[in-house]
Order: sequence, then structure tokens, then C-alpha cells
Amino acid sequence: MYQKNFLGSGTIVSIILSFDTAVTALVAARVSPSRQPGNSAACRYLPYDDEWPNEEEWSALNKTIGGHLIRAIPLAQSCYVPNFNPSECEAMRNQWVQVNQYLEDPVNVMAPDWQNNSCSPPPFANTNGSGSCTLGNLAHYAINVSEADAVIAGIQFAREKNIRLTIKNTGHDYLGRSAGKGSLALWTHNLKEITFLDYGSVKYHGPAIRVGAGVEGIDLVNAASQKHLRVVHGSCPTVGVSGGWVQGGGHGPLTAAYGLGADNVLEFEVVTADGQHVTASPLNAYKDLYWALSGGGGGTYGVVLSTTLKAHTDGPVAGGSFGFLNSDSDKFWSAMTAWLQHLLVLNRIPGLKTIGTITPTGFAMNFATWPGATVQDIMSGFKPYFETLAELGIPLTTNTTMVHPNFLSHLEHFSSDTAYTVNVMVASRLIPRSLVQNNASLSTLVFTIRDISNRNPAIFNIISGNVSHSANISNSVLTAWRESLFHMNFGLSLDDNASWEELQSRRDIISDWQDQFRLVTPGGGSYANEASVMDKTWKEDYYGSNYKKLEEIKVKYDADSVFWANVAVGSDEWAPMLDGRLCRTQ
Ligand SMILES: Cc1cc2nc3c(=O)[nH]c(=O)nc-3n(C[C@H](O)[C@H](O)[C@H](O)COP(=O)(O)OP(=O)(O)OC[C@H]3O[C@@H](n4cnc5c(N)ncnc54)[C@H](O)[C@@H]3O)c2cc1C
Ligand SMILES: *[C@@H]1O[C@H](CO)[C@@H](O)[C@H](O)[C@H]1NC(C)=O
Ligand SMILES: *[C@@H]1O[C@H](CO)[C@@H](O)[C@H](O)[C@H]1NC(C)=O
Ligand SMILES: *[C@@H]1O[C@H](CO)[C@@H](O)[C@H](O)[C@H]1NC(C)=O
Ligand SMILES: *[C@@H]1O[C@H](CO)[C@@H](O)[C@H](O)[C@H]1NC(C)=O
Ligand SMILES: *[C@@H]1O[C@H](CO)[C@@H](O)[C@H](O)[C@H]1NC(C)=O
Ligand SMILES: *[C@@H]1O[C@H](CO)[C@@H](O)[C@H](O)[C@H]1NC(C)=O
Ligand SMILES: *[C@@H]1O[C@H](CO)[C@@H](O)[C@H](O)[C@H]1NC(C)=O
Ligand SMILES: *[C@@H]1O[C@H](CO)[C@@H](O)[C@H](O)[C@H]1NC(C)=O
Ligand SMILES: *[C@@H]1O[C@H](CO)[C@@H](O)[C@H](O)[C@H]1NC(C)=O
Repeated sequence: MYQKNFLGSGTIVSIILSFDTAVTALVAARVSPSRQPGNSAACRYLPYDDEWPNEEEWSALNKTIGGHLIRAIPLAQSCYVPNFNPSECEAMRNQWVQVNQYLEDPVNVMAPDWQNNSCSPPPFANTNGSGSCTLGNLAHYAINVSEADAVIAGIQFAREKNIRLTIKNTGHDYLGRSAGKGSLALWTHNLKEITFLDYGSVKYHGPAIRVGAGVEGIDLVNAASQKHLRVVHGSCPTVGVSGGWVQGGGHGPLTAAYGLGADNVLEFEVVTADGQHVTASPLNAYKDLYWALSGGGGGTYGVVLSTTLKAHTDGPVAGGSFGFLNSDSDKFWSAMTAWLQHLLVLNRIPGLKTIGTITPTGFAMNFATWPGATVQDIMSGFKPYFETLAELGIPLTTNTTMVHPNFLSHLEHFSSDTAYTVNVMVASRLIPRSLVQNNASLSTLVFTIRDISNRNPAIFNIISGNVSHSANISNSVLTAWRESLFHMNFGLSLDDNASWEELQSRRDIISDWQDQFRLVTPGGGSYANEASVMDKTWKEDYYGSNYKKLEEIKVKYDADSVFWANVAVGSDEWAPMLDGRLCRTQ
């Protein structure tokens, strides 16, 4: 049952289940949710309700926003009558698991469990356009945002009409937070402006870049590179900079050098739930909003229009990769234990970031980044580990080291957008340094990874670098990041056309792994941007000691929950019912 995902304890389960029954009874009796303005209603309206805005009302909104209202269309609509078009459908099917078409679309999102086959390209055998195609969990309308006024009008409309509001940027979000059944989406993708600044404040003097909310990592790297600058961004080139990534913390190749994404934010340009267009910085009247937006999760406190980030002088960047096979299981897992221990050494090197991937077939440390270092530096960093591998009798299958003249060429070498597809599901855990320093707890951790890996075609990413540099910047990044030796995300790939039952079962499996890792990593936490939507202890795991303060800020700026997203701060005030309708839980 869907809404169980959002519940904490057994007692609450029973309360909500009985509430659920009450709501179902209400709907069955055709008693509509209260129509009071000001969002005091018990539930949001859906398109099949009498109270859903009529065509004239949508049209009036469209006029207010200069014709930028878009009626949502499922991506694979051309595969079904009455819009059946075999060649368009075929083209769609061929691109279905690639990220690009989701970036360019106002409402369709990548996460297969939120897309949920409501309109997937049908199996090859079915070529006559039969079958069902609906919007499912996706928004119904979207505003193609190009200015603050359109955002203000959208918020106002959603409030007045008591409908759900969502914010969609790239649609990368694994937790479905950029989708929402029957919602009006604020689509920020076209806010692509990039401005270079010479920034000066009590806290920071130096180069900075203001990026519109639609700017993606690769847009930013390209623009900054031309000015001989570099800026933090996510490893996947198409992840947005100002949206869920920076607002949830944000790791990437440069975060060991300069801190997490959120640590680099100087100010946010925001539209608040009451329609104010403000700048939130650590030094002004909106410093609490700044604090919440820099780490406390996207889609929750306001609509960010642009973010101003610190920029850093570009120059040569050393990179490296190596890998080996799992041909003897005991030796392989000894080598993995040794790598995690060696991270204790590498982690002390300012600027060095590594990403290693464990699969059942072997280990690939495929992306090391070390600004300003030489080939000799990086080789001497790995040398003691290579000696351990030699003692274990494990030969390397790859071993490369190189220095690129600037960050962009380094990134182009080590990362590529074609490597990312949407048919994956992930969860994660931040692993404390102190845990790896203790051989007994390390051994338990490695045993757990090994056990899961032995039974499943799982992929584990070990992402390591010291992100404690900015610990004295005041923001709401989960404190477990600061004490972590590495961030470990893990996932399973999915069949392109997996059924809901299969999606659900994978979701349960991955969530169970996250639970297992919680048990063996007390004091850790999980990076919410790459985590399970099913976590029963999400407040603690995803927000830790910041939760209470974040909740106060949420209530201060959005007491009516105009913004709502899965496992977001304050999200337990509302929950989706069996039909996906968002209703108050109390
Ligand atoms: C293939 C892939 C690779 C990834 N790689 C990395 C990585 O290297 N490092 C990393 O840290 N994470 C990574 N992630 C996770 C990524 O950080 C999250 O998916 C993040 O939520 C994406 O943000 P977005 O704005 O691009 O996406 P969206 O899905 O559009 O939005 C995500 C959330 O942010 C909210 N949001 C978006 N724009 C705004 C705005 N302007 N104002 C307020 N709220 C907004 C949305 O409502 C939603 O809640 C990856 C994800 C995928 C699928
Ligand atoms: C909004 O107006 C524009 C311009 O008049 C029009 O092209 C568009 O189809 C309208 N959107 C909707 C949802 O009707
Ligand atoms: C996915 O669809 C199935 C079948 O319609 C439904 O039971 C389930 O609740 C849906 N899940 C989500 C997350 O939308
Ligand atoms: C997935 O597609 C294959 C053909 O590519 C088909 O045989 C299979 O039945 C499909 N599975 C589902 C669940 O639709
Ligand atoms: C279309 O194809 C499906 C699957 O092959 C089949 O079940 C259905 O009867 C077909 N419908 C028509 C109208 O031909
Ligand atoms: C969205 O608006 C931009 C202008 O801001 C325009 O270039 C683009 O074509 C619009 N996209 C859609 C899908 O309407
Ligand atoms: C991480 O970096 C900070 C700031 O440079 C430093 O104080 C801390 O000691 C470093 N941690 C480790 C384990 O080296
Ligand atoms: C890895 O490559 C470097 C040169 O690039 C070489 O010096 C080193 O010996 C190699 N290490 C192993 C273990 O192959
Ligand atoms: C922990 O393991 C390392 C590497 O195997 C070893 O050098 C160290 O002595 C061990 N520490 C303790 C306390 O056993
Ligand atoms: C931390 O803040 C103090 C002042 O509050 C400052 O002196 C110090 O340089 C800062 N450290 C870092 C690593 O920024």
C-alpha cells in the first residue's frame, strides 16, 4: 500500500490507515473536499473533481503569464490511439531510457517508479496502438517559467484553486519529487542565464557566477571554463545546478576541493510561497531561508530562480583511474577492505576526490580528480594501495594517470553524458571515518556489502573526498557528510519495461539494503538526493539534527504546504491517498 512509504511507526500506520478509510468513504459518498481558499482544505483537487479549474480559468492563467501555460503530454503518447504514430512511437522507444528527452519536457520525469508505466512505449509485439496512456503521477499543466511574475501567478493560482503545485527542473530526481499527480508544474528548465560577477561581502570576496535555475552542470562547466574559472557541479553533466542538487547538498568532482554544492552558494533568488520575490543570503533578513535552501532539500521552501555560486580559478587538474577483477572472492574482498582503509589516507589530501565502483565482476576506481596535482602526486597517492594489491596477487586491468590543462578537459575525459540512463534505482549511506578506523566495524560493513553483492547484480559507488572544509559555513547540509569518509550509493538496473510489481519489489530490496547499512553504521546518515523513498526513519537519516530547525523554517515560509514533496521536511503533514490525491494527515 502506497502511503505506507511515508509512515514512521506502527501506531501511526494504524491512525493513517483509519484516516484513509475515512477519506475513501468521503469520496465514495461524493462529498467533495472543502473548497475554502487559503489552502485549509483537507485534500487537493484532482482533474476529475467538479472543483478542478475549468478551461476559462486555465485560459485566464495562461493570459496572465504571457501564453506560457503548457498542457502536459505523456512522452509516449504517440504509441497509443488516438495519437498513434508508429514512427514517432518507435523513435520514442529507442530513447526511452536516455536522459535527454526528459530534460526538455515540462512534466515527464526519469524515475521509473514515478513514471510507473502510466504511458510507457508498449512491447515491440504490440504495434497497433492499443492500450492505456495517461499522465498518472505527472503534472497536468506546466508553466514554462521565464520570469518571477509567472512563478508568482502559478503559486497564486494553485493556492486559490486548491490544487497541487510541483517544481520540475531536469526531472532527475530519484524520489519523484519533481512530479505530482494532478499538479501544476513550475518548469524551470529554460532559466539558462549565466552571469559572471566580482562578488564582495563580509563573508566572501572574489569571482562568482549567478546561474539561472535551469542551468545544468555541463552548461556551467562550459561557461566557466571560457573565463578560466571552475565551479562545483554534479558528476552527471545534465543534473541541474540550482535545483535539487544544490538544495540537497550536491556532490561532484570538485567537492573535495571546494566543498559541497550548498557550501558554495552565496545567495539564492527565490519566490516564496506567499509570492514574495526575494534574495536570501547568509547576511540578510532571509538568512533562515538561505540556511534551509542550502542543504535542506529541493521543492520545499520556495522556488529558486537563480543561485550565485563561488567560482574558483581554473588550471591543470590531475586525474586517474585503475581497476581489477574479482577472480578470487576472498582476495577481492580483502582488497576492498584495504581500499576503504586507504581512503583514510587519501581523504586527508586536500582536493583529492575518488569515485570507485564495485560490481560482482570487480572494482573500477574510474574517476579521480585532484586539482593542481601532478602525475607523480597522484601515483604516489595510489602506490601503497597498489603494493597491497601486489601482496594479494591481484593484477591491475587498467591503470591510467594524466594531467589535463583545465577542468573541462579533465571532465570530458572522465565523465560522459551517454553513460547515464534512467532505468536505475538507488539508495545510499554516508560512512563515518571513525567506523573505518575501527577494524571490527569495518569488517561488518564489508561483510554486508559482500553479502548483498554475492546475491544481487548490485552496483556500489564509493565516493570519497574530505567535505569538512566548509564545516564552519552555516547551512543545513546533513552533518553526517562532514564526518563521512565516503558516500556509498548502491542500486540495481531495471528492465526498460519493468511492471509495477517488479519496480515495487526492487524498491523494497534497495530500501532494505539501506536499512541494513543503517544498522551497521550508527551515526551515519543518508544523502537524500540518492536515497530510498521508503525509509521509515527518513527525518533522522536525511536531515539529522537539522530537522527541527528546518521544520520551523518550512512552517514560517510555507505554513499551507503549497510546496510538497516525498520525504521533504514537513511532508508528513500531507500524504497521497490510494488514488494519489494529496490529503492532510491530521
Ligand atoms: C543519472 C543521475 C546522476 C546523478 N548524479 C549526481 C551527482 O553526481 N551528484 C549528486 O549530488 N547528485 C546526483 N544525482 C542526484 C541529483 O542530485 C538529484 O536527482 C537532484 O534532485 C536533481 O536535481 P534537478 O534539479 O536536476 O532535478 P529535478 O528532478 O527537476 O528536481 C529535483 C528536486 O528539486 C526541486 N527543484 C528543482 N528546481 C527547483 C527550483 N528552482 N527551486 C526549488 N526547488 C526546485 C524539485 O521540485 C524536486 O524536488 C544524480 C541523479 C541521476 C538521476
Ligand atoms: C497558452 O497560450 C498560448 C498562446 O496563446 C497558446 O499557444 C497555448 O496553447 C496556451 N496554452 C494552453 C494550455 O492552452
Ligand atoms: C503504480 O501503479 C500501480 C498500478 O496501477 C499502483 O498500484 C501503484 O500504487 C503505483 N505506484 C506509484 C508510486 O505510483
Ligand atoms: C518487456 O518487453 C519484452 C520484449 O522486449 C516482452 O517480451 C516482455 O513481455 C515485456 N515485459 C513486460 C512486463 O511488459
Ligand atoms: C492490438 O494488439 C494487441 C497485442 O498484440 C492485441 O491484443 C489486440 O487485440 C490488437 N487490437 C487490435 C484492434 O488489433
Ligand atoms: C518555453 O519558453 C521559452 C522562452 O522562455 C521558449 O524558447 C520555449 O520554446 C518554450 N518551450 C515550450 C515547450 O513552450
Ligand atoms: C578535512 O579538511 C579540514 C579542513 O581543511 C581539516 O580541518 C580536516 O582535518 C580534514 N580531515 C581529515 C580527515 O583530513
Ligand atoms: C601504473 O602506471 C604507472 C605509470 O602510469 C606506473 O608507474 C605504475 O607502476 C603502474 N602500477 C601498476 C601497479 O601497474
Ligand atoms: C586494523 O587493520 C589494519 C590493516 O589490516 C592493521 O594494520 C591494524 O593493525 C588493525 N588495527 C587493529 C587495532 O587491529
Ligand atoms: C572558520 O571560521 C572562522 C571564523 O569564524 C575562520 O577564522 C576560519 O578561517 C574558518 N575556517 C575555514 C576553513 O573556513
